[in-house]
Amino acid sequence: MKILITAGPTREHLDPVRFLSNRSSGRMGFALARAAAERGHEVTLIAGPVALPTPTGVTRTDVVSAREMLAAVERLLPAHDALVMSAAVADWRPKRNSPAKLKKAAMTPVLELEPNPDILAAVRDLKGKRLFVGFAAETGDPLGEARRKLEAKGLDLIVANDVTLPDAGFEVETNRVTLIAKNAAPVPLPLLSKYEVGLRIVTWLESACSL
Ligand code: PMT
Repeated sequence: MKILITAGPTREHLDPVRFLSNRSSGRMGFALARAAAERGHEVTLIAGPVALPTPTGVTRTDVVSAREMLAAVERLLPAHDALVMSAAVADWRPKRNSPAKLKKAAMTPVLELEPNPDILAAVRDLKGKRLFVGFAAETGDPLGEARRKLEAKGLDLIVANDVTLPDAGFEVETNRVTLIAKNAAPVPLPLLSKYEVGLRIVTWLESACSL
């Protein structure tokens, strides 16, 4: 299969030195990319700003903002059989992005924001027979929220991630997730390395692709 994976955070700049972002390290998406490449798939990784080496055999495109990530997904998706959005995309960006560093005296205590595009929603028309997988990073009712996002975003599979657990979610090397496929019972996985979680997702993609 040809698998397109997004990983890491996006950064939404206010000026050249300040930005809004989140705690995503890219570990989950990079581990998934490595697992998919080792299983013989052709993998393209779209990475937000992270400090990780590119897994062997993976083609990588770097982006900074949500709008750049959307443009990369739109450009690359037609050549792929599956899209896995493990990136933590910033939902909002500052309304103004100054090309020069803002002076403290010129700033106000209230930051005006505007919404970023929802990448999965924006490429829904390109889905066709492609498999779409999302992640849901949740701090309350992970399964309920994940199911809602599975439906709302028209996904085939969602990976529900309770990010309140110390050994799961952002930054750490391990993850504890539940795989929720459309019209199927949730499959809770034990605590695993992010690489092993990646392998389980690849196995799901392989079986869904052969249906
Ligand atoms: O990078 P790590 O440190 O290893 O951490 C891994 C992780 C916690 C970031 C990862 O496992 C994870 O849960 N990623 C998704 C985080 C997230 O943004 O979830 P969400 O519930 O906000 O979004 C739901 C889905 O919509 C996601 O697939 C997301 O990529 C996608 N999305 C979100 C916002 C947006 N504007 N466009 C999108 O397509």
